[in-house]
Amino acid sequence: MSRPAVLVTRRIPSSVIARLEAHCDVDAWSGPGAITAADLKARLADKQALMCLLTDRVDAAVLDAGPGLRIVANIAVGFDNIDLAAARSRGVIVTNTPDVLTGATADFTWGLILAVTRRIAEGERLLRRGEWSGWALDFMLGSDLRGKQLGVVGLGRIGRAVAARAGAFGMRVAFTTLEPGPEAQGTMDATWTRLSLDELLSSSDVVSVHVPLTPATRHLVGRRAILRMKRRAYLVNTSRGPVLDEAALAWALREGLIAGAALDVYEQEPRVHPDLLGLENVVLAPHLGSATIETRTAMADLAARNVLAVLSGSAPLTPVHG
Ligand code: DGY
Repeated sequence: MSRPAVLVTRRIPSSVIARLEAHCDVDAWSGPGAITAADLKARLADKQALMCLLTDRVDAAVLDAGPGLRIVANIAVGFDNIDLAAARSRGVIVTNTPDVLTGATADFTWGLILAVTRRIAEGERLLRRGEWSGWALDFMLGSDLRGKQLGVVGLGRIGRAVAARAGAFGMRVAFTTLEPGPEAQGTMDATWTRLSLDELLSSSDVVSVHVPLTPATRHLVGRRAILRMKRRAYLVNTSRGPVLDEAALAWALREGLIAGAALDVYEQEPRVHPDLLGLENVVLAPHLGSATIETRTAMADLAARNVLAVLSGSAPLTPVHG
């Protein structure tokens, strides 16, 4: 009996390839950069499974290029790169990689919060330019976190993990959520306060965004939302770029309407809005939220286990219900 075939669209750890190869024929894209849409379609023709990344757009045309496809396993928790309705109507299962990246992404979010409030990246740039003339009492002052409010927009797994770390920095937590009652789905601290988005924006000292990208969240944080924030507040986004209007943010930072921002995700990755690049009060990271060896390996491994489950006739471990 012939073995099922899986297409893997980017280099992944060899341990994960070995796991797949024990049961499947593996076609792993090894070209430089991301697989092109044309190559993706051509290589899907004889595949039963696709393991892909958030940089691969999996739309109806791609799905039609793989008539034998049974599963699309995204190596990411976000799945806005996949047309879920098109997959469902073709009977193709979609999976993602929740949980395994929660801790790494929450840690990284706090790295960004500290970097922007304590001006770490800005200070490093100054030092490398040779402009540091020595210690001074009033040099490059940032902002304390202690006693301030962290406003978490979106209380899913990552939002909760970010909130759970706030106590270590002496911050109280407010949160807002777009869906009714999801705070009941996970660990909740009784001290966390639920607010409307507007209340959260106007009362928080650090606003951290953790919502998935959907039609309802596109540009959720735009000019109107930013204008509600305090002038001494900071905005952090580690969710998806299009949730934030980069042009509006650049304007607000330039005008001093908020104190600073830190971004890990962008509207048109890898492009960053040019107006942000020249500003000192924004930290710009290249989508590194989950980027640790351990976490990325766990993400690829979970995607592979989803593929193997579905190809063997079992239920997927982490299906996306869209
Ligand atoms: C995801 O998984 O969706 C992140 O953006 C990358 O880890």
